[in-house]
Amino acid sequence: MKRYLTGIKPTGYMHLGNYFGAVKPAIEFSKRDDIDAFYFIADYHALNMLPNGAEMTDLTKHIACAWLACGLDPNKVCFYRQSDIPEIFELNWILCNVTPKGLMNRAHAYKAAVEANAAEGRDQDDRVNMGLYNYPILMAADILAVSADYVPVGLDQKQHVEMARDICTYFNNKYGKILKTPDVYIDTNCATLAGLDGRKMSKSYNNTIQLFCDESTLRKTINKIVTDSRMPGEPKPLDCTINKLYKLFATEEEKVAFDKALSEGLGWGDAKKQLYEIINRYISPMRDRYNYYMQHFDEVEAMLRAGAAKVRPIVQDLLSRIRHAIGVVDISK
Ligand code: ADP
Ligand code: TRP
Repeated sequence: MKRYLTGIKPTGYMHLGNYFGAVKPAIEFSKRDDIDAFYFIADYHALNMLPNGAEMTDLTKHIACAWLACGLDPNKVCFYRQSDIPEIFELNWILCNVTPKGLMNRAHAYKAAVEANAAEGRDQDDRVNMGLYNYPILMAADILAVSADYVPVGLDQKQHVEMARDICTYFNNKYGKILKTPDVYIDTNCATLAGLDGRKMSKSYNNTIQLFCDESTLRKTINKIVTDSRMPGEPKPLDCTINKLYKLFATEEEKVAFDKALSEGLGWGDAKKQLYEIINRYISPMRDRYNYYMQHFDEVEAMLRAGAAKVRPIVQDLLSRIRHAIGVVDISK
């Protein structure tokens, strides 16, 4: 059995890009018999990015319910909340003491903040706090705490996993081989979805189609997809955003029929209507499950706690070996 671990930050509402690029593949992956999946809500990683406590609570509820609605099976996956495992934060501190400051200076997010400050003529550490600076060490603690073999992430997180490997080596060189060296796992088959304006769908571009909005919002959002000015009756290009999205939800026959209709001059308005129908058909049962969980937080909370209860002994066992190695022990023995 190999352990696969990944963290999900509660920083936004799940959109189709997140779903097809990360959530769906992760859930399919977790169904494999040779894999132990650890998927957790990285709430303390999100702390820096959220404006207040209410937002943290809302987005944590949303993300937990959304993953369950998408089909995550908490009996198959260790599904937990980072903040429910206090030992991760103890490990974070221990790892701070073997991590050279220079390694953190090279982290992309920190460097980008410093460069943005320089470009605007501000002090280089303006608005940079230690949460941002230490972010990769906390991430290393998440990974090393459960001795993960593989860390499936998007390309943007590759550097963080490489840093976790470095931190692991620094620790093991000093205290003996206690921590497992993780490998990054990047699924190159994952699609990058286009958003309403044709750029990558992302909450930072404000061009997303949210997965769990109501039907009327979904219809309105789809109507905002940018098209060219070709009139009904004129053939439409098949590599347009509408067709790319349609293909994700359609059967083989539906794909052929939609291509044909577009080439024969289907109007953009009708194309959007058909796109809405097919997306809604796919999402409806998921939305029902989402709405159910959003009304039963007690069940969701119990699932997260049960997940933490499965994971905590693993982390506690590692921590007791680490404490022994670093000399934090019962002094009467
Ligand atoms: P956003 O870009 O909206 O801020 P995040 O950075 O929070 O999204 O991404 C969460 C996960 O969803 C990551 O694994 C990322 O690779 C994936 N993801 C985000 N947007 C897309 C997209 N347009 N296509 C494919 N995957 C995406
Ligand atoms: N930093 C990751 C992101 O921004 C989230 C994350 C936190 C994570 N801890 C992790 C991912 C551990 C993989 C492993 O998406």
